Amino acid sequence: MRLGVLTGGGDCPGLNAAIRSVVRHGNGERGCTLVGFRDGWRGVLEGHADELTSDDVRGILPRGGTILGTSGTQPHRVDGGVAKVREALEVHRLEGFIVIGGEGTIGEAARLDVPVIGIPKTIDNDIRGTDASIGFQTAAQIATDLIDRLYSTAESHNRVMVCEVMGRHAGWIGYTAGVATGADVIVVPEHPFDVDLACRRIREVHALHRPFSIVVVSEGALPVPGSMPIPDYALDENGYPRLGGVGAVVAEEIGRRTGFETRVTVLGHVQRGGSPLAFDRVLATRLGRTAVDEALARRWGSVIGIHGAKIDPTPIAEVQGTKTLPPELWRIPEVLCE
Ligand code: F6P
Repeated sequence: MRLGVLTGGGDCPGLNAAIRSVVRHGNGERGCTLVGFRDGWRGVLEGHADELTSDDVRGILPRGGTILGTSGTQPHRVDGGVAKVREALEVHRLEGFIVIGGEGTIGEAARLDVPVIGIPKTIDNDIRGTDASIGFQTAAQIATDLIDRLYSTAESHNRVMVCEVMGRHAGWIGYTAGVATGADVIVVPEHPFDVDLACRRIREVHALHRPFSIVVVSEGALPVPGSMPIPDYALDENGYPRLGGVGAVVAEEIGRRTGFETRVTVLGHVQRGGSPLAFDRVLATRLGRTAVDEALARRWGSVIGIHGAKIDPTPIAEVQGTKTLPPELWRIPEVLCE
């Protein structure tokens, strides 16, 4: 069998581990031919492809990023894009694609109506059909380690330290890193943020416990309407807001309303960089193997996910939409500030 493989959307730790697993299992153990496309769906449209053998993926397991490159290209937004994807199947004599991607890339796969199997990756952990997506555990750990380091300055200078973390529609990183570091206030997109309640909580912390505090803000934070300004986001190539900057506004508002010296740190893309944790390496390896086996069985149109200890496929149609934090996780004093 000949299969295409690509990585789409934002990079994250563990993509190379997934590529390696697909190629080693597919090519090395099952005798398939794997064709790797450059830069996500863009490589499919533009014909940038090379066969990958086990030799090509040697040594990439611990490496961040993706040896295939990635992009946010969505064929249905490109003139004649969908037809070009079908053409690529014929040109490269492929039976289907294994697509390592997030919501955008996998959603695109559903729209294209070609044989695909999705492997979920995103540090945001917001893909349905899996308990965890590749990259999330590593990103949450990076954010945790870096927020731990903000305590020194918070404590030495008696400051409020605001830390903006990623999380577009879901607060998995903010919640996890916030709880893991003992943050005083945690802002997640799942719950509208009331800056006045947050200020009251911060004043209480400074008066009763210690004269400094830590505030973790997900970049997709939604303030209570009219309560504070939100940044004017530029749009990306697909027309989605390019987030980043809400932490600075939160810091400004907290500083002004409480009178406490306040600083902001934006973690940004460091959360997506570097070597994956063991968890993400193992997850990527297991998902990659199962994706190849599902392709060999010609069971197309699914996303391979982890459910407890088991790796299972879920039909792509059932994984549309965002996997947000369940209320039992975010209904905590740090988020509610009540
Ligand atoms: O989807 C993952 C993510 O890291 C989001 O949290 C963030 O909003 C976005 O990607 C940033 O993407 P870009 O690389 O385009 O800045």
